[in-house]
Amino acid sequence: MTPNEKLSRRDFTRLLTISGSAALIPMNAFGQRGEKVSLADLGFTSAPLPPTPLTPDENYWREVRSRFLLPADFAFINAANLCPASLPVVEAADRFARQYEASPTPATHTALATAGRETARTLLAAALRVTPEEIVITRNTSEGNNYVSSGIQLGAGDEVVVFGDNHPSNLAAWNDKAKRFGFTVVTVPNVNPHPGTAALVDAFKKACTPRTKVMALTHVSSNSGDLFPAADLCAAAREKGILSLVDGAQTFGVLDIDLSVMRPDFYTGSMHKWPCGPKETGVLFVNKDVQDRLWASVISLYAGSVGASKKFEGHGQRDDAKLVAVAEALKFQGSIGRDVIERRSRELAGALIEGLKKIDGVQFWTHTDPQRHAAIVIFRPGTTDPRKLGAALAEKEKIVVTTRGGADRPGLRISPHFFNTMDEIDRTVGAIKKHMTTGV
Ligand SMILES: Cc1ncc(COP(=O)(O)O)c(C=O)c1O
Repeated sequence: MTPNEKLSRRDFTRLLTISGSAALIPMNAFGQRGEKVSLADLGFTSAPLPPTPLTPDENYWREVRSRFLLPADFAFINAANLCPASLPVVEAADRFARQYEASPTPATHTALATAGRETARTLLAAALRVTPEEIVITRNTSEGNNYVSSGIQLGAGDEVVVFGDNHPSNLAAWNDKAKRFGFTVVTVPNVNPHPGTAALVDAFKKACTPRTKVMALTHVSSNSGDLFPAADLCAAAREKGILSLVDGAQTFGVLDIDLSVMRPDFYTGSMHKWPCGPKETGVLFVNKDVQDRLWASVISLYAGSVGASKKFEGHGQRDDAKLVAVAEALKFQGSIGRDVIERRSRELAGALIEGLKKIDGVQFWTHTDPQRHAAIVIFRPGTTDPRKLGAALAEKEKIVVTTRGGADRPGLRISPHFFNTMDEIDRTVGAIKKHMTTGV
């Protein structure tokens, strides 16, 4: 659409919500009579948030929501998949890109790549309660997981204990590398419903032998929504001298993560998921005590300036504007409070569970005890076809969630985050009930 074509607010909203597909977001829209409509006219702002109240109410969360380019009538409850970046992040990435493209000199590059990236690293370290020397800025969780499975020296006679519900980047990746390097993968099967901390720690301990070198697990499973006792499992690994990798793709940016308490050797996350940062940016934490046990998978120029980043972040030329914008995402969430974001997301997930419990036939794959889940809720909608239900929600109700259509825990995955409102949760429960009752 060219700037001359008129775009009414309704059209604009429609464009943004077509089946949850990639949204078209012009920086300026056009009103019905052709006048320019700014994002502010549409109710969006990138202004700093007001101080977080002691008890944030729906008004405060609507303020937060207005920093996202999500139209008011579009319920995007799919944070586990990919999150929208907040407007401050979108604007910062654009600003830095323009700065660079207007002056693509080594000096601009140094300012962005060196100074900006190091600020992002400092904020990442603060968010995870570790040191900047332990932070590597990656492309995503997949890359971080693979840096670990490719970078630890393993061979015939060594064993790696993995969790059966790990993401392919932390499961298929280990199995593939086992074929190449000759080590053995031992899989702890997933159990549904979540059997509790003691049973899980026991299962992992039993899977370990004197030959086990690495334990690779997931903090929250994207297939079940269950939350696993990462700190206990890392402690169990540590006691036996085993390295631990925690995949935090579904916890970084939503739970208030404290790696100084969890104490993994490696922790991975994606900025484009729950932290609502720039796409294709992520984090790999490498505990300072084990940095000499990891080989670099990519060796090139433009490494980071401190600690692990000097060895593991020399990835050649990168999109520095995006790396610098990582800092904006961390500042934005930090200005709300990570504990506040965790409470809010859990509150939305809890309300969703309570609403769904009242619908006949709903069967939860996610454990409903708040100790055993975070902000992902997966359930089977009785005998209703999840694919049809997911499509009805997207097309008729403007509610976007993930559909799990296969044989493995079929159903819907709904993952609310701090940009969602309680109204959207109520509307979603109502719509699911309606379609399950009347049929889709
Ligand atoms: C548990 C888990 N690990 C890793 C990933 C991969 O994340 P990315 O695609 O950002 O690398 C995902 C994606 O959904 C995930 O759920």
